[in-house]
Amino acid sequence: MPDHFLHITDLTADEIRAVFDLAATTKARFRARDDWRPLQGMTLAMIFAKPSARTRVSFETGFHRLGGHALYLGPGDIGIGQREAVQDIARVLSRYNDMIMARLFDHSHLLALAEHATVPVVNGLTDYNHPCQIMADMFTIGEQLARRSEVHIAYIGDGNNIVNSWLRLAARLPLRLALACPEGYRPDAETLALARAAGLSEISVTADPKEAVQGADIVYTDVWASMGQKDEAEARRRAFAGFTVTPELMAATGRESLFMHCLPAERGFEVTDEVMEAPYSIVFDQAENRMHVQNAIMLTLLGKG
Ligand code: CP
Ligand code: NVA
Repeated sequence: MPDHFLHITDLTADEIRAVFDLAATTKARFRARDDWRPLQGMTLAMIFAKPSARTRVSFETGFHRLGGHALYLGPGDIGIGQREAVQDIARVLSRYNDMIMARLFDHSHLLALAEHATVPVVNGLTDYNHPCQIMADMFTIGEQLARRSEVHIAYIGDGNNIVNSWLRLAARLPLRLALACPEGYRPDAETLALARAAGLSEISVTADPKEAVQGADIVYTDVWASMGQKDEAEARRRAFAGFTVTPELMAATGRESLFMHCLPAERGFEVTDEVMEAPYSIVFDQAENRMHVQNAIMLTLLGKG
């Protein structure tokens, strides 16, 4: 296991599978309300430069339920890279805490945090990627479909941080990843090349959502304007016309597919209310599994797995 969890490709395929196995155990124990406190006496510093519901609550609740204590440090508290240099924050927090989780804008700040921290650092989302989310999503797919390879995932929307993590997962586990993104909003070319170079997964990129969803087990989408891009929302709504996941697009898969979204959703834009509320929507299972998969990642990094 690496010292930090910054990208899915920090893990080998075997390590990814081991995290999923441990997550199944932590989930069962959480649901049974087992009195299991492997993190007793430990603290987690959580740095948030951006808003959050799921990430904050799942990390804080998860760390607490495993016996530890998590501290929330919001945008007004630390001012990473502004009030104080990243390398200084890394060393200060490492003197008090057993682990650092960070949600930042600039991915290079996360890399610097990990370089200078003397405790494990976990990525809670950057502009570049969101590895905890996609690990939880793949765990959820395994629960639903009882397989984690050769799953056909159609991603419809912005070639953003979520896509970069899907691509990095595709460099470790064999997937069929069909990405439909408007021109100008395609995924990061280097990450796409990295995923293709691994030679494990079948990866396609198109501007036609109907083409991407054909035969898909999973239809996945995310907001058109991510955190930090909300002032582009109007322009993006025009660029993403025709990319809404509707019941018609779900039917175009030609099979009984599941709908996934990392949330928060902007209902009526990238997805309709009807799809969000449909029996095939597993968005809240994904949200629930964030905590169990993150618990497994943290236990493993802390040598308690
Ligand atoms: N999916 C996710 O990371 O949600 P939050 O932004 O609410 O943490
Ligand atoms: N792409 C979204 C994901 C939110 C969990 C964002 O970065 O805002």
